[in-house]
Amino acid sequence: MSRKPFHLAWFISKGYGPKGWRQQWGGSNPKSWVKPDLLVSLAQSLERAAFDYVMIEDSSNIPYTYKNSHETYLRYAVDSPKLDPSVLAPFMMQATSRIGIVTTLSTTEYNPYMLARLTNTLDHVSDGRSGWNIVTGSNDGGAQNYGHERQFPHDERYDMADEYVELVQKLWDSWDADAMVIDQEKEIFADPTKVRPVHHEGKYFRSRGPLSGPRCPQGHPVICQAGGSARGRTFAARWAETIIASATSIAGMKAFRDDIRAQAAAFGRNPDHIKVLFLVAPIVDEYKEAALARKEGRLQEARTHMEFYLAHMSRLTGIDFSKYDLDEPLPQLTSNGHQTVASAYSGRTPRQIIEAGRSISDADLVGTPDSVARQMSEIIDTVGGDGFLVTDPEFTRRYICEIADGLVPALQKMGVVRTNYQHVMLRDHLLEF
Ligand SMILES: Cc1cc2nc3c(=O)[nH]c(=O)nc-3n(C[C@H](O)[C@H](O)[C@H](O)COP(=O)(O)O)c2cc1C
Repeated sequence: MSRKPFHLAWFISKGYGPKGWRQQWGGSNPKSWVKPDLLVSLAQSLERAAFDYVMIEDSSNIPYTYKNSHETYLRYAVDSPKLDPSVLAPFMMQATSRIGIVTTLSTTEYNPYMLARLTNTLDHVSDGRSGWNIVTGSNDGGAQNYGHERQFPHDERYDMADEYVELVQKLWDSWDADAMVIDQEKEIFADPTKVRPVHHEGKYFRSRGPLSGPRCPQGHPVICQAGGSARGRTFAARWAETIIASATSIAGMKAFRDDIRAQAAAFGRNPDHIKVLFLVAPIVDEYKEAALARKEGRLQEARTHMEFYLAHMSRLTGIDFSKYDLDEPLPQLTSNGHQTVASAYSGRTPRQIIEAGRSISDADLVGTPDSVARQMSEIIDTVGGDGFLVTDPEFTRRYICEIADGLVPALQKMGVVRTNYQHVMLRDHLLEF
């Protein structure tokens, strides 16, 4: 192998929600989406392909931003409905033994003690394979479900999240690794000198501690983050061990990664301890022509379901896109939701945004497994590392197999990704290269 391999993870867009229910290859019973089976089978397929982790996206409301109504969201299942990812995660953990399982949990929805306890438990039951994707909330409808009028201001949400993570880490650290003695002869279960209250009294949060359960195998479950705005990046550079990023160009990927690494170094961290993975949705097929035709199919799908995508864009940004003409360039937009997304929309027409979104980035990964594998390797060479976050906008069983059993073997043949796990715990996978 000429250089370090790169990492692969999978992004379950639409979380624990309906998958491919309109698609031809979506599966025989779309009503069974409420059961974990499809996503458990995804985790098993990705483990066969030795992925670092699978990340379960989440949001916890039925949105109503588009046309001020739930109608479009419910009719087409746009970003909803979703079941709780922390219930799905243990099913995936039970059915696998190596792959990391990363659960999205919001700092504005969970109480920090509850979250520390939940993530600590997930790490125990998975033998150290659990991760927490930190999100801070975006849609006002979400905040309203938790008793707030609207989301806290964007940057303040990250200030709150800084204190939140400090508290959660104190709680994770409230038990020493060797505190649980379980000595039957001496009749000592836990050594009381090795378990401490945390007595946290901060600007936003209070908690006494200690945590109700012993320290988990990783000590701290792996922290994953996706903030794209200036404040979001600073937060990610301070805390994240893996960052999931969406960039619209290869130059953008490089700039993003360079920025994160520089900021992490300024925080006194080793930049190599942060793996930045870029969102891609490769299309592979036996023949290039077939892959290109399927790319065209993705575009056609978008053109015939404009409302679906307008509603999605509205949910992300809190801006009602029914008010804009499909073919008029949008004005400068600001958002208290996903800021990076809103600024990327500005000046483009909604139609352009939707059509471009179907290819996710200008890293147009369309072709045979071998040609796409070469392209991916070249991108990583240009960007400098660390890997990709694969996603499937349509999510079909066929796609999972194409990636796990078509694309990944081509990458393995080139020697650019791992063929077998060397470790059990998620952090060890991330730090392996
Ligand atoms: C690949 C990727 C996955 C994301 N997954 C989620 C998610 O599951 N839930 C969520 O609320 N936000 C999710 N986000 C949004 C981010 O957490 C963050 O809110 C967003 O990037 C906006 O941050 P910014 O305002 O700092 O740009 C995701 C973003 C990206 C790029």
